[in-house]
Amino acid sequence: MNILITGVSRGIGYELAKKFADRGLTVYGISRNAEKLKELEKYSEKIKTLEADLTTSSGVAAVGNWIKQKETELNFLINNAGAIVNKPFNEISKEEMLRVYNVNVMAPTILLQQMLPLLKAASLNHVVNISSMGGVQGSVKFPGLSMYSSSKGALNTLTECLSVEFEDVNFNALALGAAQTEMLNEAFPGYKAPLNAEEMADFIVLFTLNAHQYLKGKIIPVSLTTP
Ligand SMILES: NC(=O)c1ccc[n+]([C@@H]2O[C@H](COP(=O)([O-])OP(=O)(O)OC[C@H]3O[C@@H](n4cnc5c(N)ncnc54)[C@H](OP(=O)(O)O)[C@@H]3O)[C@@H](O)[C@H]2O)c1
Repeated sequence: MNILITGVSRGIGYELAKKFADRGLTVYGISRNAEKLKELEKYSEKIKTLEADLTTSSGVAAVGNWIKQKETELNFLINNAGAIVNKPFNEISKEEMLRVYNVNVMAPTILLQQMLPLLKAASLNHVVNISSMGGVQGSVKFPGLSMYSSSKGALNTLTECLSVEFEDVNFNALALGAAQTEMLNEAFPGYKAPLNAEEMADFIVLFTLNAHQYLKGKIIPVSLTTP
């Protein structure tokens, strides 16, 4: 079985790549940081990586071509790459808005258009979109996260929409609570999360491999608190 994971150079994605390789899956990982990708490849020969910027058309096309050259079917896709900006709404530049929406919404959307034929070809498939509690309707919202949380809200709704449009592909989204990663440290310096990246990855691995048997088109909160 094989899996494509975006955002594997650090944080949750880095841990996911290692854990799926440990379980014997062929792991295809994408990020921009070539040095970190080379380091990750050394962990296991099951891990293959490609340096690509998912906010560019050429980057997403390169990922699509890379996978199609190597595989005729794809079992799992985790849209994990994410971008955040934590700033008062009026101070957010257009460039920052576009960066967050491009990484969190447009990249998974365009990548999915490319990968759907391979996912449909696999008798066992599951697309897991990594979202956030902030994108869940009625959850506590934090000042400064307008672009980030609204982009994750869009990813949640995209998950529900695609689930009804493609009956032969399993889609779910995980709305994560806080995990101690570089992203969290950069956006909220000093904040102490209840889980680290590895612990969060443990849950995501189990969910990806099993949950499609029980859930379809669902947004699942993954949080130790009830915000
Ligand atoms: N940590 C949390 O508390 C938390 C909470 C809720 C949801 N989440 C979500 O969980 C996911 C993983 O978060 P994390 O905390 O592990 O984040 P992270 O440490 O910042 O890692 C993000 C990954 O995304 C990749 N990435 C960013 N922009 C990219 C681009 N343009 N093209 C290709 N790859 C790109 C980064 O690699 P390069 O920089 O090398 O490209 C990196 O590997 C994200 O979707 C995030 O929104 C996290």
